Amino acid sequence: MSGRGSLCVLICVFFFCCALKSVFSIQELTVTGKDLKDCGKQKNVCVMSSADCLAASDVLTATPESFVNMSCHYLVHEESFTCRWIQMSEIRTETVSTFIFRRTDDVYCPSILNFFSRFNLTIKSKSVIDQKEQFSDVYPVYMEEIVQAPRPVIMSVNVTDSSVNVTWNSGIITVTKCRIRYKHLNTESWTETASNESPFVIEGLQAFSEYRLSVSCAHESGRWSDWSDETRVKTSESSPSASLSLSYYVASDGNSGVRQLLLLWKALDVTDARGLIRGYEVSYMPIKQPSLKKTIHTAELKAVVLVRAEEYEVTVWAFNSAGHSPPRRLRVDASRSHDVRSVKGLWVYSEGSSLRIRWDRDFSAVNVSEFAIEWSAVTNPIRKHWQRVDGSTFTARLTGIEPDENYTISVFPVYDSLCGPPTSISASLQHGALLDLDRFRLVNVTQSSLVVQWTWKEAKPRVNVRQYRLVLEGAHGKESLSVFPDKQQHTFDQLHANAKYSVYIQGETTTWNFSKASLDVNTPLIDYDEMMRFAVPVVLLLLIFGIFSVSSRTIFREYFFPIVANPRYSLIGRWLLNPHLKGSGKICVLKLESLFQFDQQEKNFIQVERRVSLISEHEEVIPSKISTTGEGTTLWKPNSDAHAPFSLPEYVDLPLLADNSDYVQTGQISTVVHLSEKTSD
Ligand SMILES: *[C@@H]1O[C@H](CO)[C@@H](O)[C@H](O)[C@H]1NC(C)=O
Ligand SMILES: *[C@@H]1O[C@H](CO)[C@@H](O)[C@H](O)[C@H]1NC(C)=O
Ligand SMILES: *[C@@H]1O[C@H](CO)[C@@H](O)[C@H](O)[C@H]1NC(C)=O
Repeated sequence: MSGRGSLCVLICVFFFCCALKSVFSIQELTVTGKDLKDCGKQKNVCVMSSADCLAASDVLTATPESFVNMSCHYLVHEESFTCRWIQMSEIRTETVSTFIFRRTDDVYCPSILNFFSRFNLTIKSKSVIDQKEQFSDVYPVYMEEIVQAPRPVIMSVNVTDSSVNVTWNSGIITVTKCRIRYKHLNTESWTETASNESPFVIEGLQAFSEYRLSVSCAHESGRWSDWSDETRVKTSESSPSASLSLSYYVASDGNSGVRQLLLLWKALDVTDARGLIRGYEVSYMPIKQPSLKKTIHTAELKAVVLVRAEEYEVTVWAFNSAGHSPPRRLRVDASRSHDVRSVKGLWVYSEGSSLRIRWDRDFSAVNVSEFAIEWSAVTNPIRKHWQRVDGSTFTARLTGIEPDENYTISVFPVYDSLCGPPTSISASLQHGALLDLDRFRLVNVTQSSLVVQWTWKEAKPRVNVRQYRLVLEGAHGKESLSVFPDKQQHTFDQLHANAKYSVYIQGETTTWNFSKASLDVNTPLIDYDEMMRFAVPVVLLLLIFGIFSVSSRTIFREYFFPIVANPRYSLIGRWLLNPHLKGSGKICVLKLESLFQFDQQEKNFIQVERRVSLISEHEEVIPSKISTTGEGTTLWKPNSDAHAPFSLPEYVDLPLLADNSDYVQTGQISTVVHLSEKTSD
């Protein structure tokens, strides 16, 4: 038996079909004339095995339900006859199938398979295990209707950036029609196009894209040939078709005029890149001084350049081996700083073989269009990885993470053409975030609040913490909040006075929770502050009251109960009060200097003097100097002019007085004492 036309060319692919509770397999059997034998006396029968001759003579009981979707074809150039069908059976078993050909007229078996032949076909299928035989229905076959063209062979393909030129060979027999199908490597469905002859040019393809294609041909009204083997082709590069989406951020380092301009762009889609992007060209030019234009080339998706605080025109291009993309231009006013928010609450932990990164979703107030995530291994910082996620998300999964490698991850919020400064964190697959919580302490506690503080230190934690929570637990309940590296202090409010609380940090891993750094706190009954608030005014009030009472006594005494010199305690007084002197009408002059110690008593003496002089004012007794105002009031002034002569009442007998002496005069009732600094005649 020849190899090609072996008794049974079986391709048995087994499927299990649970719904049908039966097994089916796809069968294919090909024969050529050499495989066929006659059956002696049965001149109109051809079989593949003499054992079938007996069956061929019987009236066979067909089980057509076991042979489904049968189709046959005849290949002229090979003179081979092939049938394919689906074999149904109850158990999974290997079967051997044979063909039984019958004709109405006699036949010479090896030549039954020819272009003009007609016959009836029955398929016998025999189980290898239990030798059970099954027969198909009888199929009438007209060879000219099932002639199939040979399978074409693709000889060559020539590509441009948008087309493929295909050449194929459809064998020695001329075909009248062909069809070509192709599909992009990443898509499911084929695109089919007809062509009458080779070569054929497929057009409208994407640049730098891989396609699979195959060809099938047919003779006139015959069957389509099988599809040729698939050929993979890749169209060539062309320059990128779209400009980059660019955003920027101006960072100033305070007072110096130099600013850092951060430019961030997004990698082009494959369809726009139309080739392998080799790099990016960035040029920036002060608008007022175009001669200071600078250009840099980079392979990264980010550039940081130093600029001065003025307006710039920035242009960025992507380029591949075929050329540059259209430019993206931005006008950047580097003198203005932008109030853009950076990402808060950044945290990272490992999730299988990737890193899960998350941040606060608190971006509702601003229009963040996207977040750009950059990460690189610490040992290979040049090789940056980028990922963009939508502005509405707050988490991303970073893949392709190497174990035993530390990564630096930065997240930039992108607001269309603006972006925010990055927020960064370090992590590894083994430890998650390379940060640990440290030095947890109580800062302040009052009746109704407590403040705790902690720090973050770079560390390799033992466990991979999904997040840390700060928990406050007390008799009145429990509250907790997530804490992230940008948070280092928290105040719990509305606590109960004189209550016991426990504050601690809880770490959450995928499987368990643990607590660390626990503090027990008692809130006071009365706050020190409150106490101070209460005590200080009271003390102040007491102090003011004390000062007031002391000073008021002085003032009261001074103004309402003035110290009036008791004449009995002074020599003059006693002298004046002496009844023997009363009404004598004599004037006695005392040398005062000898009688008083001026130093101490001057004040009181002057007070007395004043008061007396006020009385004297009305009585107009001894004006030292009389001035008359418009109202006719007589005022007394202490004599400023020492040399002015005294004008005295006539009845006064003026004695001579030595220097530094004054005089005292006794009136009839009132006692007038007048002191003059110096009296001269
Ligand atoms: C037989 O072919 C028909 C139509 O081509 C198809 O719907 C059916 O699923 C096939 N049967 C099996 C068992 O595959
Ligand atoms: C956000 O965008 C919407 C529409 O795109 C706009 O109406 C709204 O004013 C923007 N909000 C801010 C804060 O820019
Ligand atoms: C850990 O604690 C959080 C919050 O307290 C809780 O939601 C979570 O179910 C806990 N996880 C485990 C594994 O106990």
